[in-house]
Amino acid sequence: MPTQPTSSPSDQLLEWYDQHRRFLPWREQPTLYRTVVSEFMLQQTQVKSMLPYFDRWMAVFPDFETLSRADEGAVVKLWEGLGYYRRARSLWKLAQQWVAAEPKPTSAAQWLEYPGVGPYMAAAIASIDFGERTVVVDGNVVRVIARLRKIETRFPNAAAAVKAVRPLAQELIPADRPGDFNQALMELGAMVCRPKSPTCLLCPWLSHCESVSSGLAEQLPNIQKTRIKKVTIPRLLVMDFTSGRILLQEGALHGRLDGLYELPVCQSPIPRNWKPIATIRRGISNQQITEPVFQLDPQQWRQHLAHKKTEPEWIPFQNLEQVPLSGPHRKWISGFLASGAGSC
Ligand code: ADE
Repeated sequence: MPTQPTSSPSDQLLEWYDQHRRFLPWREQPTLYRTVVSEFMLQQTQVKSMLPYFDRWMAVFPDFETLSRADEGAVVKLWEGLGYYRRARSLWKLAQQWVAAEPKPTSAAQWLEYPGVGPYMAAAIASIDFGERTVVVDGNVVRVIARLRKIETRFPNAAAAVKAVRPLAQELIPADRPGDFNQALMELGAMVCRPKSPTCLLCPWLSHCESVSSGLAEQLPNIQKTRIKKVTIPRLLVMDFTSGRILLQEGALHGRLDGLYELPVCQSPIPRNWKPIATIRRGISNQQITEPVFQLDPQQWRQHLAHKKTEPEWIPFQNLEQVPLSGPHRKWISGFLASGAGSC
């Protein structure tokens, strides 16, 4: 019987990608600028959540030149809701650097010199837009390759796993269509080789996967969990209902101003007789943050400010829409206003 020519794992993955990939705007009408913006937005944000932001961004800042000339406040404002605002500022600076650069960057090594660009993004841009054969490796790719190659090593952290997996992934990337191969790897990690309940029967690499037959796939990769750090950030709610204003301050994260306004942070220790009007809990990367909110009179707050790098500002309630606020702060503040907190 004539034997079928067997296609390579990379061919099989590309074939699957051609048939099953999600139609995403930066894939269907690719340009360098669209790749860069999508990669910035997709750091720490899922595709589903970022899609409306991508379309809005493209309508306002359609190319590097427009973005480079934009006002920093407008850039941060349009990013509002995506979180991790340093990304917006880096993207804005990147646009300025790119517009000024001659010759323009093409290789992953050259892209690494740009603000906010790490090895993953440099590889994505260089492969997708310039055909460079450099593989992308993030948590998703680590998972796919660790399962494919049945890597049972216990890694002390994610960075060690990325380092170990990179050469194995690099072996697989073809010279032809390296950008599509990278996006196919991302897609496989997101849609099939998921952390929990991977759909192995639908996987184009089923016949190559070294961990599926032993039932190990779901347990790999073996990476030590990072400890969750508990952090408390007491906040001040100061509203002046006579003039219809709230006190906000530009936030200082790790001592650096980040362009976003927030409820001012209150100095610790908190006086014993203070009771929070609300306590908000949220998780950001490996931190579990508890934020008790203390309401003070408009005359009372100044000596309780934790940081004085910026002067707090009285913002009229009706101007809150125009002020860049992080998503959670906007939600809390509208909640406090709706409940009439402070009118008592
Ligand atoms: N995550 C990071 N980059 C991506 C891309 N280009 N497509 C889908 N998910 C991604």
